[in-house]
Amino acid sequence: MTTTNDAQAGKVVYSALKPTGELTLGNYIGALKTMAALTQRHPCYYTVADLHALTVDNVPAELRRRSLDFAALFIAAGLSPDRATIFIQSHVRQHAELAWALNCYTQFGEARRMTQFKDKSAKAPQNVNVGLFAYPTLMAADILLYQADYVPVGKDQQQHVELARTVAERFNNRYSPTFTLPECLFPKEGGAKIYSLTEPTGKMGKTESDENGTVFLLDTEDAVMKKFKRAVTDSDGEIRFDRANKPGVSNLLTIYSALSGKTVGEAEAALAGAGYAALKETVGQCVAAALRPIQDTYKTLIADKTGLETILKEGAQKASYAAAKTLNKVYKKVGLLQL
Ligand code: TYM
Repeated sequence: MTTTNDAQAGKVVYSALKPTGELTLGNYIGALKTMAALTQRHPCYYTVADLHALTVDNVPAELRRRSLDFAALFIAAGLSPDRATIFIQSHVRQHAELAWALNCYTQFGEARRMTQFKDKSAKAPQNVNVGLFAYPTLMAADILLYQADYVPVGKDQQQHVELARTVAERFNNRYSPTFTLPECLFPKEGGAKIYSLTEPTGKMGKTESDENGTVFLLDTEDAVMKKFKRAVTDSDGEIRFDRANKPGVSNLLTIYSALSGKTVGEAEAALAGAGYAALKETVGQCVAAALRPIQDTYKTLIADKTGLETILKEGAQKASYAAAKTLNKVYKKVGLLQL
């Protein structure tokens, strides 16, 4: 498993988050935190994946509001626009165009095997649209347009990134080297999958039904503390990492480790014998302290809509330049007439 520590400086990084639901602690630990760290040593392209959001039901005004909100939270979480190219996916038309071409180099059977497609179809059987099925090829287009070497994501996106790699490899073999083959970068110490606080065997998600299980980046300190206080643990009282038998406690240790910079082993040692009430209090405080500066910066950014829009326009311009280069190559190689 490749983690940020192994990433070779200078290599291109791409990642995106989809503006459905509000950003969570899972998104932060699984993706945003790593994405922020990578801006120090890599050219980075970071996107609000609004086209992907169309695959589920949306209220249009809310999607617009959320797209801007996500961009503000990206920056507040440390994705500095001075070091990274930050933009909205639909503002760079090449994403949709390359996605169409890649659809024609992706097998139906490959897309059908995607776990997220199966899960999402089962959850919303009234809206199993073709976009949901083609979701991974749009993701592949996102990544491949920028010739990305690394894609920092949580575990749930691994299968999609692997499909992007397969499709890129197929295209390169059929024509000539065109795309860089991307690989996932995961956070250390289990942060690639943060679980729900109330059902610690399932993922902490933006759109899960139980809001008490999910910490949102914009939750108040009071809400954060309440959610941790109610976190499900077990009855043996021992603070020890054991994913199979103690999922709740293990999840709390993972969260604490990700935000305190301690390894899980060090976290275990620091909290051994403290009791579950103290464990929940410590982790809750640690999360609240991590969210405070993000929320403060977010408030300043979102109050200056024009400033934010300028950042996004510049980001889209810069991204379009790189994206056009790749798309032109692809169109030429596959035989589309150019005048
Ligand atoms: P999305 O918006 O569902 O999630 C954004 C990122 O957060 C990670 N993540 C988690 N990590 C750890 N624990 C969790 N509980 C947790 N929940 C979410 C996800 O793995 C992801 O990294 N399809 C993507 C967005 C996308 C994309 C891309 C990603 C579009 N194009 C190209 C990478 C490259 C998605 O819906 O992520």
